[in-house]
Amino acid sequence: MGSYYGGWWWRGRLLAAVVVVLAAAEVVAGGNVTYDGRSLIVDGERKVLFSGSIHYPRSTPKMWRSLIEKAKEGGIDVIETYVFWSLHEPKSGHYDFIGRNDLVRFIKEVQAQGLYACLRIGPFIESEWTYGGIPFWLHDIPGIVYRTDNKPFKNHMRNFVTKIVEMMKSESLFASQGGPIILSQIENEYGNVEAPFKKGGKAYVQWAAKMAVDLQTGVPWVMCKQPDAPDPVINSCNGMRCGETFTGPNSPSKPALWTENWTSFLQRYGDETYLRSAQDIAFHTLLFIVAKNGSFVNYYMYHGGTNFGRSGAAYMVTQYYDQAPLDEYGLIREPKWSHLKEMHAAVKSCSSALVNGVQRKISLGQHQQAYVYEDSTDEGNKCAAFLFNNATTNATVEFRNANFELRPRSISVLPDCKKIAFDTAKVNAAISKRIATKSKTLKGAEHQWEEYREAIPTFSDTTVRFNQIEEQTNITKDSTDYLWYTMSFQPNSASCTEPKLQVKFLSHLVYAFVNGEYAGSAHGNSTGQKKAVLVEAPISLSESKNDVSILSVMVGLWDSGAFMEKRYAGLTKVEIQCKETTHNVTSDEWGYQVGFQGESLGIYTQENTDKVKWNPISDSSSANDDPSPRWFRTKFDAPKGDEPVALNLTSMGKGQVWVNGESIGRYWMTIKTKQGNPSQTLYHVPREFLNTSDNLLVILEESNGDPLQITVRTVSITQLLHPRSRHSTIR
Ligand SMILES: *[C@@H]1O[C@H](CO)[C@@H](O)[C@H](O)[C@H]1NC(C)=O
Ligand SMILES: *[C@@H]1O[C@H](CO)[C@@H](O)[C@H](O)[C@H]1NC(C)=O
Ligand SMILES: *[C@@H]1O[C@H](CO)[C@@H](O)[C@H](O)[C@H]1NC(C)=O
Ligand SMILES: *[C@@H]1O[C@H](CO)[C@@H](O)[C@H](O)[C@H]1NC(C)=O
Ligand SMILES: *[C@@H]1O[C@H](CO)[C@@H](O)[C@H](O)[C@H]1NC(C)=O
Ligand SMILES: *[C@@H]1O[C@H](CO)[C@@H](O)[C@H](O)[C@H]1NC(C)=O
Ligand SMILES: *[C@@H]1O[C@H](CO)[C@@H](O)[C@H](O)[C@H]1NC(C)=O
Ligand SMILES: *[C@@H]1O[C@H](CO)[C@@H](O)[C@H](O)[C@H]1NC(C)=O
Ligand SMILES: *[C@@H]1O[C@H](CO)[C@@H](O)[C@H](O)[C@H]1NC(C)=O
Ligand SMILES: *[C@@H]1O[C@H](CO)[C@@H](O)[C@H](O)[C@H]1NC(C)=O
Repeated sequence: MGSYYGGWWWRGRLLAAVVVVLAAAEVVAGGNVTYDGRSLIVDGERKVLFSGSIHYPRSTPKMWRSLIEKAKEGGIDVIETYVFWSLHEPKSGHYDFIGRNDLVRFIKEVQAQGLYACLRIGPFIESEWTYGGIPFWLHDIPGIVYRTDNKPFKNHMRNFVTKIVEMMKSESLFASQGGPIILSQIENEYGNVEAPFKKGGKAYVQWAAKMAVDLQTGVPWVMCKQPDAPDPVINSCNGMRCGETFTGPNSPSKPALWTENWTSFLQRYGDETYLRSAQDIAFHTLLFIVAKNGSFVNYYMYHGGTNFGRSGAAYMVTQYYDQAPLDEYGLIREPKWSHLKEMHAAVKSCSSALVNGVQRKISLGQHQQAYVYEDSTDEGNKCAAFLFNNATTNATVEFRNANFELRPRSISVLPDCKKIAFDTAKVNAAISKRIATKSKTLKGAEHQWEEYREAIPTFSDTTVRFNQIEEQTNITKDSTDYLWYTMSFQPNSASCTEPKLQVKFLSHLVYAFVNGEYAGSAHGNSTGQKKAVLVEAPISLSESKNDVSILSVMVGLWDSGAFMEKRYAGLTKVEIQCKETTHNVTSDEWGYQVGFQGESLGIYTQENTDKVKWNPISDSSSANDDPSPRWFRTKFDAPKGDEPVALNLTSMGKGQVWVNGESIGRYWMTIKTKQGNPSQTLYHVPREFLNTSDNLLVILEESNGDPLQITVRTVSITQLLHPRSRHSTIR
């Protein structure tokens, strides 16, 4: 059966498609996926596989087909996704698999296109997802310690992993049953956190591997970044440059798999966009294949999508890997998409030689090498070669009696050992530019804007009380980003001149109010905030009672590290400093309000939006000087056509947006990058959230944004520049 990939790439694709169609119709004998030291073995054949990550909850069900189609067209064989525990089990034992959470439908879309799937169950996933995908209710289980040899954690993890595996089995979605899933993942990058757990960590890895294997899926399991993954689980590499960094499989009988090849990098509020060139991606991909005998490469992400709602982890912007080959909106990003497509085709035409042939490494110069694969059993391509130039200048080499001029830091693919079919450093594709065309200003007579001001709660408004400052998430249970800390301060008889309020905090953002007046605010940033941040603000005090109200804000929870369940968020110390003395009020009696009134009433939904009294606003009253939490609402019509829709929120401060009750995520304009720009100005509103007219737009603004400047845009690729020969420095 070794000759399926012997011909040209399209022939291989055709045969693969035929096999999959047959597989769907009947359970193919020997349908279990296995592996050896060369590659995964699917349907009895070794395979070189290109995989792309697309996370189902980061787009909408109606987008899935087109995303998967574009991936297939780009030469992707496998769609890889995490499984998002916190979405699927929002309450212990209560499951949700509808809408964006419809995992089965997503895998079936993959199957319908004849592609394979890689299911990364985790269920800890990190993935820049709030709390790393762990449902927050686990926090309150007595004695729990996440991701170690801890009974309560292991029980819940086993329940969830079993639930997912059984669900896939009952729909016959594993390759062993004729389905598309050829690989599953247990845990995630555990090697990064294992050390602090000491013996518990080792035991947990053994347990997790055995638990997974015992579920009998008929397809292999991987553990990424886990050099000691227990047999038969395969250890795999994640990173930008696995062709240089991967230490290799931990057994000669395991293949080299790259489960996360980062096509860009995560972006947080305050960060500039991370750009990774098509040439750089292609170079490192091929290097992994030739230098590490790699046979499976997954692009993380192939489509990043959107962190809707409150799903993003700490400081994450809502655009996720927008620089991937398919951008946030699912539009093709050039030249990345085409350059990788050309590379996939070139590599596919060498597939058989790569996984069945004998490899020889021939030196062609100080920094130049040829990797030659010869397959004596194959009738098609007997020889394939990869010419590698690691120098930063062009190099002329002689290979098989011919001269080749190799570009700086490049790999050239010669499927017949004679002619270059692909060069990582030579981009043929055009460059695309994305533009956002203004289609609507939500301003003027036809747009009635209304506002609802949140009351600043005082101590006497609160019912939840503690004799000290408490940790934030333990009070909110992560049901909201917001917690109000209130107290009543009386300076007693002593005089207090030039009073100042000082607040130290470990949340992301704090706004302080005294007697209903804004006093000051401060925010942390994504650079591994270990130390508390400080707000220090002059205030005025009355001689009797003073209401101190402090709003503490989390922009998503942390998503990594050991002992996540013990992390602290919220205020850590509050003082009222006078010239004469300092009043430490940290251990006074504090009253708490969880979130905003508008949140508890759900006024962002059509159903509940009238539960508060809204007041009209006009041009002159739309902007506030000082931060103060307000809600805004209006209605708008969807732009005509079917191009993706986005809101330009440049004029806003910080908050959240809902369209017809669906949250499109958190925005944050007041935190700036080093160059002084907001990290993200456009916010995706999937067409699926929209009706043609009268769409309810509700905004929660914590700061002092001006909604009347918001514009509705349609996003498209309208400019295609002509290709030029471009070189970029490879990292
Ligand atoms: C496939 O794997 C399952 C579970 O590991 C096993 O029970 C079954 O016998 C295997 N089937 C074949 C055809 O190898
Ligand atoms: C990994 O991704 C980077 C950037 O996307 C790319 O330059 C590199 O070639 C890729 N490597 C592999 C092995 O896919
Ligand atoms: C790749 O496979 C060849 C045999 O085909 C072997 O000589 C070489 O050491 C392997 N490279 C790595 C990094 O495992
Ligand atoms: C290529 O060169 C870079 C920098 O000069 C070096 O770090 C890297 O290890 C080299 N890669 C290989 C595969 O030789
Ligand atoms: C490097 O080699 C490429 C491919 O042969 C060629 O097109 C290019 O002009 C060369 N660049 C330089 C600076 O010589
Ligand atoms: C969480 O709050 C409860 C009371 O509601 C308290 O008993 C417990 O100690 C708190 N846990 C932490 C970690 O602060
Ligand atoms: C992030 O915060 C730290 C202090 O917590 C500060 O030193 C640093 O300058 C900040 N970085 C940015 C980019 O604002
Ligand atoms: C303020 O009070 C808290 C709680 O009693 C205490 O832990 C802290 O050390 C005090 N801070 C100062 C500066 O005295
Ligand atoms: C968003 O609107 C601002 C003006 O408010 C404009 O300067 C900016 O170019 C717009 N951004 C995009 C991506 O359209
Ligand atoms: C569109 O309007 C209909 C009728 O008012 C409503 O039932 C439906 O939920 C709306 N769709 C969305 C996406 O809001």
